[in-house]
Amino acid sequence: MKFVTSLALLATAIAVSASPVQKIFNLVTSGASDASNNGLYLSTEHVDPLNSKAVFREKTDAADFYVVNGTVRYDAPNGAPFAIALVSGEGLQGDVEISVSPTTGSEGFSLTSEKELQTSNKDFGGWLVCAGDDDLQGLFYENSSAGDDVPERCDAVQLDVVYKTSS
Ligand SMILES: *[C@@H]1O[C@H](CO)[C@@H](O)[C@H](O)[C@H]1NC(C)=O
Ligand SMILES: *[C@@H]1O[C@H](CO)[C@@H](O)[C@H](O)[C@H]1NC(C)=O
Repeated sequence: MKFVTSLALLATAIAVSASPVQKIFNLVTSGASDASNNGLYLSTEHVDPLNSKAVFREKTDAADFYVVNGTVRYDAPNGAPFAIALVSGEGLQGDVEISVSPTTGSEGFSLTSEKELQTSNKDFGGWLVCAGDDDLQGLFYENSSAGDDVPERCDAVQLDVVYKTSS
């Protein structure tokens, strides 16, 4: 009996060390000049089976993120591994996608003191909340190589990391 118990414990220990528990977090806006753009939760809006737009929704519909090797991951409801990507472009207001990885996820993301989402992309000039085509606000980034004004209908924000309490 004792032998069986320790085998079970050993199996548990191996299972735990083989799959490190990811720290799951939400991304929440702060620092906006328009107070209504603070406290928005990053989520996704379906475009097609492989691509989503980065949009803001209520806390109850927030997307759960985690970091792997400098990419920010999100598991879609169907289990597909999505990742955040800064889309390359020419404009000041750069698009952000949350799409199936690994083809599209951007690398170089990190959490400063585990508090704020940053990227080492040299063109990155900060996060933007901008009015979208529909009623949802979208997440964009400022391409500092294209200019340094805040684009029209946008507000500069930071994305705070809010860890989910483990249950
Ligand atoms: C992270 O990067 C290392 C080194 O490139 C690689 O061996 C590992 O498989 C990567 N992990 C994941 C989960 O992609
Ligand atoms: C930023 O803008 C410059 C100039 O328009 C462009 O060459 C560069 O590729 C852009 N960067 C990104 C990450 O899209």
